Formats: sequence, C-alpha cells, structure tokens
Amino acid sequence: MRQKIVAGNWKMNKDVHESMELLRAIQSAPIPEAVRVMIAPPTLFLDRMAEATQGHPLQVVSQNMNAAASGAFTGEISAEMLKSISIQATLLGHSERRAYYNETNESLTKKVKTAQENGIEIIFCFGEELADRKSNKHFEVVAEQLETGLFSTEALDWKNIILAYEPVWAIGTGETASPQQAQEMHAFIRSQIQKRFGGAIAEATSILYGGSVKPSNAVELFSQADVDGGLIGGASLQAEDFLAIVNAI
Ligand code: 13P
Repeated sequence: MRQKIVAGNWKMNKDVHESMELLRAIQSAPIPEAVRVMIAPPTLFLDRMAEATQGHPLQVVSQNMNAAASGAFTGEISAEMLKSISIQATLLGHSERRAYYNETNESLTKKVKTAQENGIEIIFCFGEELADRKSNKHFEVVAEQLETGLFSTEALDWKNIILAYEPVWAIGTGETASPQQAQEMHAFIRSQIQKRFGGAIAEATSILYGGSVKPSNAVELFSQADVDGGLIGGASLQAEDFLAIVNAI
C-alpha cells in the first residue's frame, strides 16, 4: 500500500512566534494513523521545530537544500546541516525555486544526487505552466521534468522519493486542477515511472497533488485512484484548514 501523505509548505510566511503557534495548534490535534503529515516551515525555524516535534508523528522537512557538501555558498544549507538537526527530508524543485532562483531540470539532478547519497528523503516537485497546458504540451513538459530532473540520476533509491505534481497555473491562484485533470496526470506520471523502473516501484510511489488544495476540494481530489495526498501552500497556514485537509484523506 502506498503511503498517504499531506505536506504543508509554509513558504516564506510567519515569524517565529506565529510559526510555533501554528505548530502547536497542529500538534494538539490527533493525526490519523493512515496519514503521514509533514510541514516545511521557513529554514530559520527548522531546528526548533525539529526539537518541538520529537516523538510526535508530525515530520518537519526543509523547503530546499544545496547540492554541494559544504563551502562558499552564502545563504545556503547543506544535507549534513539538515541531518545534524534531525531533518530527514526536503522539498526539491518547487516551481517558485525554478521561477525565481534559476533551478532547472539539469541543476536539480545534482541536488537529487546529493540528497540520495545522504539518505535525505526528497519531495520532488514539478508541473507545467499555463502556456504548456493551453498548447497541449503538459504531458511532454512533465515527462521531461521527470526524465531530466529525476530519472537520469543513477541508481535511484525510490524508498526516499515522493513526487509532488503542482501545475504552476494552480498554485496560489485559487484555480485548482479538476479531480479528473489531476487523476489523468497522476496516472500518466505513474506510467512514466512504470516504463522506466517497473510496476512495483510505480505502484509503491506516492504522488501528491499541489495547487489551491482547500478543505472544500480535498476529499474529491484525494479520492482519485492515483492521487496519494497533497502538498498544501496557502491552506497550510491555518491549523483548522490544514487539519481538515489531513482528515480529508
Ligand atoms: P497553494 O496551495 O497556495 O496553491 O500552493 C501550493 C504549493 O505551491 C505547495 O507547494
């Protein structure tokens, strides 16, 4: 059985007091055993959040990680640094990092490799832009993002890979992919994995949907056969909404 996962990406929101308040509110609610719940707070608060969640099923993950082991990379964080504060997973390739910080399919392969070498679990993010969908290139674009950004890394350890399909046109816009659009793409993604790595890996890999997931649309999205949970932006900033989404699985 594939893992059901709901992950909150807080992006660059909330100061330390607000972050801790949100964390406590999420922690105070029971987490259904069948769901793996993750949050990605701002980097600055990872350490104290990791401490505050020790022994609790809520998992704290990073929003990003550098490909290099160490060195002159001002402002960046390494795999070793994450591991040293008990952070075992990171998002990679979020569309905002691709759009504003020049991350490309090619540069992502280096990050994937480093994460894999360090046993850091990856939530690999990808998805087409509106123009791609309008010109009916969305499958092609997604296939390329997977092929170049992820599949090309040698000897992938799929135990440490979660996929997050996030169509850029649905992120922060209030416009969600319809459950049918999400299912169609998720089935395509699974078929791509199956072609390259076989049925067992394809069946075992969790594929999350991200882009304007809300309590009002989560149940229908999550009920699709190939949608194994969600990566939540805006709605993860309110405990009540986030918990409602967690319970929608
Ligand atoms: P929204 O849920 O705000 O659309 O953001 C999705 C996202 O980018 C999560 O990584």
